[in-house]
Amino acid sequence: MFGKVNSSYLLGIDSLKVDIEVDISNQGMPQFSIVGLVENSVKESRERVRSALKNLGYNLFGKPIVINLAPADFRKEGTHFDLGIAIGLLIAAGYIDNKEVEDTVILGELSLDGKLRSVAGVLPIVEYSKKNGFKNVILPSGNLKEALFIDNINIYHSDNLQDIIHHLKNEKLLIPHRSDMEIVDSYDIEYEHDFEDVKGQFAGCRAIEIAAAGRHNIIMIGSPGSGKTMMAKRVPSILPPLTFNESLETTKIHSIAGLLRRQNDLVCTRPFISPHHTASNVAIIGGGSKATPGQVSIANAGVLFLDEMLEFDKNVLEVLRQPLEDREVTIARAGRTVTYPANFMLIGAMNPCPCGYYGDSSKECICSRTVIDRYRAKLSGPLLDRIDMHIHISSVAHDDLISLNKGENSKTIRERVMKAHELQIARFVDSNINFNSDMGEKDIKKFCKLTTEAEDILYKALKSYNLSARAYSKVIKTARTIADISGDMDIGKTHILESLQYRFNDAN
Ligand SMILES: Nc1ncnc2c1ncn2[C@@H]1O[C@H](COP(=O)(O)OP(=O)(O)OP(=O)(O)O)[C@@H](O)[C@H]1O
Ligand SMILES: [Mg+2]
Ligand SMILES: [Zn+2]
Repeated sequence: MFGKVNSSYLLGIDSLKVDIEVDISNQGMPQFSIVGLVENSVKESRERVRSALKNLGYNLFGKPIVINLAPADFRKEGTHFDLGIAIGLLIAAGYIDNKEVEDTVILGELSLDGKLRSVAGVLPIVEYSKKNGFKNVILPSGNLKEALFIDNINIYHSDNLQDIIHHLKNEKLLIPHRSDMEIVDSYDIEYEHDFEDVKGQFAGCRAIEIAAAGRHNIIMIGSPGSGKTMMAKRVPSILPPLTFNESLETTKIHSIAGLLRRQNDLVCTRPFISPHHTASNVAIIGGGSKATPGQVSIANAGVLFLDEMLEFDKNVLEVLRQPLEDREVTIARAGRTVTYPANFMLIGAMNPCPCGYYGDSSKECICSRTVIDRYRAKLSGPLLDRIDMHIHISSVAHDDLISLNKGENSKTIRERVMKAHELQIARFVDSNINFNSDMGEKDIKKFCKLTTEAEDILYKALKSYNLSARAYSKVIKTARTIADISGDMDIGKTHILESLQYRFNDAN
């Protein structure tokens, strides 16, 4: 049984390639040797690795083990091979698949109880790893800061061996760090509105939390005064923080649109843009003589809130289809075209019918079916299809508004959203996707494993509700986010059932 781990050795300020090769034989006397022109400090690695693995319950030392640090043509010393040797042993013993570390350089010193200690010379080794085409480096937490000076390579870190093993066994993924993906710090920002002001509305708030976590488009349908505008205004307070890349891209757009208050300002919070329903096509999409970005681009990485959605011009609603699909807009003007990012989360709010009370328990609707149908026809099927979640908001009774306690505060909700966001960062680290809602068909296949039970339910729903292919993918993507919020790797029955609700709850 054989295992191989990528490592490196620092000579001066240059890094050299070192392969840690591990061989465990099935026959022979137990032994554990390290060869390959190694100094004593490397030989001592044996005791640390043996003890650390034993303490985690891995007893692989009853067989002959040889570790070779190749090539053998230069002397090696130091303690940073420990972690690579431990992982190599677990590969050779069949606990970890060798594929998991093919693109990865591993370094770190182990203590006897399995803690990871930082090592010297990390910066040049990470630089070497990037230059030589490796995608990831695994290292001790103490070395993270230094490693982040190098961009465009994923850095995984922990302060203990157990976490690294869980990660490589795909049991619990570590969050990758990358200088371009780092979170822009916005924790101290005070938001004007907080979710704790919203009383009752548990189902509505839950749906909004899911939408915020997976950046799903959502439309709220409900009677006047039911709290739609109130809830939408509170969404910024629960959105996950911006990554550096998102911040940079959005800053550029705001700079072109002349929206930065000061030069050198970086956009640090997700935009929340709420255009008036009289806004024109050009205002929404962008254009004009200077081809300036429209509201869809200014809302990039944030929220575009269309309140009283059906009051917007039908044309305006239709032109939204393209950026919703492509996540960017191309504006043609005077013989040239400009493309701006338009990667926003759409929140729509509308009444269910002209009188506003269709499906509401507090008051009877006075509209005829024809009137209702005509009213809703403004929202075309293809546009609705692009909105992942459709929810019905019922008004909270007056007595309840007085007697009910405060709702959950935004900080608590945001913590759950951020956990789900971290899982997405880890999942999509090698693609240019940020959120579950960005997944294409291929990504859905790769990242959305359904349990048999869940598959069964989805199949039945597909048949009985006659779901379009697009709606079908949206159900899975929303279910992915629901599973992420509860920290589940696979999508189960409850996740699919909840996700299906958000397609059929629009009081038809
Ligand atoms: N669940 C609630 N908890 C606390 N206050 C509420 C709640 N629902 C409504 N309100 C109060 O009612 C006001 C009106 O709500 P809001 O404007 O959000 O309703 P809306 O659904 O947007 O109505 P419209 O369809 O007329 O735009 C809020 O500003 C708030 O004071
Ligand atoms: Mg409103
Ligand atoms: Zn009505």
